[in-house]
Amino acid sequence: MEKLIIVGGKKLKGSIPISGAKNATLPLICAALLLDGKLILDNVPELKDVYTLMEILSSMGAKTQFSDNHLEIDCSNIENTFASYDLVKTMRASILVLGPLLTRFGKAKVSLPGGCAIGSRPVDQHLKALESLGAKILIEEGYVIAEGQLIGAEVYFDMPTVGGTENIILAATLALGTTVVNNAAMEPEIVDLCKCLRSMGANIVGDGTSVITIEGVSELNSSKHTVMADRIEAGTFVIASAITDSNLTLTNIRKKDFSSILSKLTQAGISLVEDENGVTVYRDKRLKAVDIQTQPHPGFPTDMQAQFTVLNCVADGVGTVEETIFENRFMHVAELNRMNANISIHGSHAKVVGNCKFKGATVMATDLRASASLVIAGLVAEGTTTVERIYHLDRGYENIEAKLQSVGASVTRITS
Ligand code: EPZ
Repeated sequence: MEKLIIVGGKKLKGSIPISGAKNATLPLICAALLLDGKLILDNVPELKDVYTLMEILSSMGAKTQFSDNHLEIDCSNIENTFASYDLVKTMRASILVLGPLLTRFGKAKVSLPGGCAIGSRPVDQHLKALESLGAKILIEEGYVIAEGQLIGAEVYFDMPTVGGTENIILAATLALGTTVVNNAAMEPEIVDLCKCLRSMGANIVGDGTSVITIEGVSELNSSKHTVMADRIEAGTFVIASAITDSNLTLTNIRKKDFSSILSKLTQAGISLVEDENGVTVYRDKRLKAVDIQTQPHPGFPTDMQAQFTVLNCVADGVGTVEETIFENRFMHVAELNRMNANISIHGSHAKVVGNCKFKGATVMATDLRASASLVIAGLVAEGTTTVERIYHLDRGYENIEAKLQSVGASVTRITS
């Protein structure tokens, strides 16, 4: 079991390169399944989830090569359209193989992903959308068994779902006729996926809005795409810089990539200045607590909720954090309170009393973004913080300790 040992209280200095976005990379890898050819992806982050998805595609017969953030996936010889529970259960975004397999091969057997720490994470909307395109779907022994020739149709989501929108876009690219996705999710990672699909010859308009129209084509062509920067990794380092009273510069990212959190950063007393070197973080003398309500994009992202909870802990005043997307995304709170935070939970709201002096402790990571919030709390805590179960962290943050060490943080990975 690996742990991170963090000695707090260091001011940080220098610049951190932002990696490619995990939540863009995963659907892009699934897009390769649409091709009787090769998809080449650059700026792919070296993350556990990427290796897991590569393993799933390889188990179907895909050929993959991955080095130096350059990934080549050849799906010319797919031998089966089966994704096993053993692999899918470790990486729920694997459900995104369903749309591509079904539309290209007319059948697929994919394990239901099951829940995860932050919530039940159902996929009913994915399945309902595929049925709208004519898919016959059975659930047997925990597997989705889908078949049929997909025909374009109107699709209506009950709520904006990132994965559901991505799955139906992937499925509609090779369906017969036109698909219109209503109440579509608008996240930038969906726009990045559509940019890549268009480079492969797909006919898609409206991505980034709530109505996306896809004109099915008979086949797609090999292509090359550079993955967008990870706005959530970048936002995490912005909070780390602000709470350690540092002026970190983040590279490979633009100020516009922070659009969904900019107003909250400003309210907290944090500003971002972009120049030819990248985006540099500045802050007022005193940080102010902010009220947060997570929403689908372009609202405040749920993936930044835990990090802003840490910001509120050290800021002046009291901040309320409301989590509206997932039913159990406050597991970082108990661990932060063990570090001397003063947070109380009332249903979907967390009340965060500011001006806390974090004290180092041994804490346990429970999910990806909760882990990140414990690391950044450790950076300002008095004494030493040990974060256990950091495999959660490795799913979404590439070389986090090397990046933090490079700007002067005392962060060491040990295996116990
Ligand atoms: C994506 O998850 C991201 N993961 C999540 O990031 C992110 O938190 C989430 O979108 C919201 O932005 C990837 O992109 C790989 P949803 P996804 O479908 O697609 C409900 C991280 O930390 N829902 O938009 O699974 C669902 O329960 C991860 O990087 C249904 O009810 O999220 C949730 O309440 C965590 N039925 C809401 O919709 C469905 O069929 C939004 O979920 C699908 C979703």
